[in-house]
Amino acid sequence: MAVKEAKTRMIRRWRKNMDVSDDVEYVDKLMTLSEGSVRRNFNPYTDIDWDSPEFKVIPNDERWILPATDPIGQHDWYKSQSVERQIEIGMWRQANVAKVGLHFESILIRGLMEYAFWTPNGSAEYRYCLHEAVEECNHTLMFQEMVNHIGADVPGMPKLLKWIQPAIPLVAGPLPIPFWFGILAGEEPIDHTQKNVLREGKSLHPIMERVMAIHVAEEARHISFAHEYLRKRVPHLPRLKRFWLSLYVPVVMRVLCSAIIVPPRAFWKEFDIPRSVRKEIFFKSPESRKMLRDMFGDVRMLCQDTGLMNPVAKLMWRICRISGTPSRYRSEPARQHLAPVA
Ligand SMILES: [Fe+2]
Ligand SMILES: [Fe+2]
Repeated sequence: MAVKEAKTRMIRRWRKNMDVSDDVEYVDKLMTLSEGSVRRNFNPYTDIDWDSPEFKVIPNDERWILPATDPIGQHDWYKSQSVERQIEIGMWRQANVAKVGLHFESILIRGLMEYAFWTPNGSAEYRYCLHEAVEECNHTLMFQEMVNHIGADVPGMPKLLKWIQPAIPLVAGPLPIPFWFGILAGEEPIDHTQKNVLREGKSLHPIMERVMAIHVAEEARHISFAHEYLRKRVPHLPRLKRFWLSLYVPVVMRVLCSAIIVPPRAFWKEFDIPRSVRKEIFFKSPESRKMLRDMFGDVRMLCQDTGLMNPVAKLMWRICRISGTPSRYRSEPARQHLAPVA
C-alpha cells in the first residue's frame, strides 16, 4: 500500500513539474523564444547556395587551414607541416567536428520529442521544444551537406558513445534535468568554439563561414532555453538530489566536451601524428588547458546561481580541469591573457 502511494506521489510530482502554466514569467520567456524561431530561421537548402561556384571545394585551398583558436591549429607541430598537409588535416578535422555536431543534434532531437511527448496540452514548453527540434533537424541536414562537400569520410563521435547513445534520449522523460545538462555539455563547447573562430576573423572557406554563422544565430535560442529550463527547476530540488547533480555536472561537461573537441582514433592514425603531440594538444599545454576552462564560464555561472557550487563540487570541477571564474553574463568573451595554470 505504502509503495503504491509513494509511486502515485512520485508520478504526481513528475506531472506537476511539467505543468508550467502558473509561471507567467517563464511562459513569457518561452513565448519570446518561440516567436523568435518563427521570425528568424534558416533553411539549409534555400539559405545556402551549395551549387554556387564560390562554395566549390577545390584542392589546395588555404582557407581550410585550421584557425589559431583551434587547439590543433595553434600547435607548433601542425604549423611545421607542409601547407598541403595542413589543408588536408584542416578539412578532416572540420568535417569531423561537423559530424560529431550532427550526432549530438540527433540525440537532442530524439530527447526533445521524448520530453515533449509527456507535456500537457497548452504547454509553452511543448511548442518551444518542437521549434528547437525543427531547427536541429535543419542543422543536421546542413552539417551533413558540409561533410559531403568536404568529401572526407569522417566517423564523428567516438565509438563507445555511439554504442550508448540510443539510451540517452530515453532519459529526457523521467530525468529531464540531467538530460538538459548533457545537452548543454554538447552545445556550449560547439557554440563557444564557433564564436571564437568567427571572432578571430581568419579567412574561412565560405561553406564554413556560412554554416557557422547560421548555427551560432540559432544556437543562441537553444542555449537560452536550456539555461531557463534549469534555472526554473534546479533551485527547488531536494538538497541531496542537488548535491549529486552538482557532482554530475562537471563530469558530464568534461566527458562530452572531449568527445567533441578531441578527434577520434582514426584521425591520429590517418595523419600519423606522434603520441606526444596528441598528449600536448589534449590537454597538457597551457593554451589547451585555458581553452578547456574558458568553454564553461557560462555553465559555471549557471551552477553558481542555482546552488550547484559547493566545496565538493568545486573540487570536482578542478579534477575535471574545467574550474575557473564564472561568467558575469552569458557569452562573456574570455579575457585574453593566459592565466597561470594551477
Ligand atoms: Fe544545432
Ligand atoms: Fe542547438
